[in-house]
Amino acid sequence: MLSLISSFLALLSVFVPNLQASDIDSYISTEGPIAKVGLLANIGPSGSKADGAQAGIVIASPSKSNPDYFYTWTRDSSLVFKALIDQYTLGIDTSPSLRTLIDHFVNAEATLQQVNNPSGTVSTGGLGEPKFNVDETAFTDPWGRPQRDGSALRSTALITYANYLLANDNSSYVTSTLWPILKLDLDYISQNWNETTFDLWEEVSSSSFFTTAVQHRALREGTKLATAIGETAVVSGYTTQAQNVLCFLQSYWNTAGYVTANTGGGRSGKDVNTILASIHTFDPAAGCDTATFQPCSDRALSNLLIYVDAFRNVYSINSGIAENAAVATGRYPEDIYQGGNPWYLATLAVAEQLYDALYVWNAEGFLNITPTSLPFFQVFSSSADVGTYASTTSIYINLTTAIKSYADDFVQIVAKYTPSGGGLAEQYSKSDGTPLSAVDLTWSYASAITAFQARNGTVPASWGASGLIVPSECLSNIVAVTFNVQATTVFGENIYIVGSVNALENWSPYNALLLSAANYPTWSITVNLPVSTAIQYKYIRKNNGDVTWESDPNRLIMTPANGTYATDDTWR
Ligand code: NOJ
Ligand code: NOJ
Repeated sequence: MLSLISSFLALLSVFVPNLQASDIDSYISTEGPIAKVGLLANIGPSGSKADGAQAGIVIASPSKSNPDYFYTWTRDSSLVFKALIDQYTLGIDTSPSLRTLIDHFVNAEATLQQVNNPSGTVSTGGLGEPKFNVDETAFTDPWGRPQRDGSALRSTALITYANYLLANDNSSYVTSTLWPILKLDLDYISQNWNETTFDLWEEVSSSSFFTTAVQHRALREGTKLATAIGETAVVSGYTTQAQNVLCFLQSYWNTAGYVTANTGGGRSGKDVNTILASIHTFDPAAGCDTATFQPCSDRALSNLLIYVDAFRNVYSINSGIAENAAVATGRYPEDIYQGGNPWYLATLAVAEQLYDALYVWNAEGFLNITPTSLPFFQVFSSSADVGTYASTTSIYINLTTAIKSYADDFVQIVAKYTPSGGGLAEQYSKSDGTPLSAVDLTWSYASAITAFQARNGTVPASWGASGLIVPSECLSNIVAVTFNVQATTVFGENIYIVGSVNALENWSPYNALLLSAANYPTWSITVNLPVSTAIQYKYIRKNNGDVTWESDPNRLIMTPANGTYATDDTWR
């Protein structure tokens, strides 16, 4: 009987026409509520899987071994609560219990800010600490710290709440409770955005696009909030730094048509870091602005395509999938963590960026194809060409229809590899799609909720990205830097340089750049480097393959926003 039923079902699935869109609707209608329940289960004090977590504390996952994620990360918690605060403030879930939970989160974060930890105290760098124990004590083991995205993401979540409260007559809670928390985080960002940070994957210490993008957003909306509540003393300082951060943000774009995720790390730089940055700094009122890499901006679309394509050959579940179709994607193609598999939140982020783009094109009534975004649009129509197309044109209709279905296909991949029961782990196997690594990852659930809402045309509030002008000196984002170092050498010995950016060969001694000895004992080289960037470097000596490094610490320069720059170093 069973086999009869299953062969009947098999027949059915052969004979039903392509019902993909409605398959997705039905997946979303079951998975959406499961994601919400799964997310809430991971929040203390009463979440069913968060036993021992204080009120408002989000555990990353209930998994206590391999990996042990029973901690609270500021990044994960803030992204999760941003999703909840959006639901509350947009009227999707206005239950009093959610309001209580949000207030718990506010209190929990206020407490964590004050906990002395290995990154410092509240006033000496402690706001860069990535994770804490669920009882709100410091986590003191070695870790990739600091991570400077957390304070920015927390600010964004709290500012979204604050703006809602201001519009709904509760300004006293904003000024007395939220602003003191926000001011600590915003001061921290304003003072330290230029410092080295571990990336959101806790692996690479350099500068990181996601971190810079969310810091920029937080400073902008923080400035607006400060103005609205009369905290004018911070306005000019934050505005100056926001302009500097926006300038620096431009330097991650590379001429190969994508955003290099980290200035260090020695990888391709193709990373969902950049897609996450685009969706978490989406401003539905900012059109397709390139300055902030809005989801429909030419740069963000070109970047999306190059990111997606980087996974075609690294996961066997992607083999046999047509060149232009959606595939499973993960953090970055070189990833090996927990097997280096696709991540649910990564694949969903691609869909979300595309839904955000479709929302804006629809709202504006046209789409624009530039030389930068042309390769992206040609995926959907080989005859696509540079130009502006009104929503009444067949080109617009064909392209947006195809892009909607491409976006849906990423959700479809997640649907295919969601186990029965609907639990979303961190990863799904690159060889057969079974769930792997941390179970019930809170961030996976949040990413499902926000992607589904975006598909539905529900968008977050605007944050002030509209009309931002990149300072003109940032537009040419390269500056010529001359490195001069005094070094006496023996015959056969030469001086080279390596450092933390592509142009300095990402610390690779094999590829180090040879300096000229024309003015010996001064050795020199001029290198084009990204503007307004903190860059680390060292000189090395090579003699017949023997490599000698300068002593620690690494040297550090901040490249200027324009002009030229020269160093006057002496071999260490
Ligand atoms: C733990 C981090 O959470 C993860 O992102 C990283 O890949 C591993 N450590 C390895 O560094
Ligand atoms: C590892 C991820 O790389 C990191 O981004 C995250 O914060 C932690 N796991 C906890 O989910």
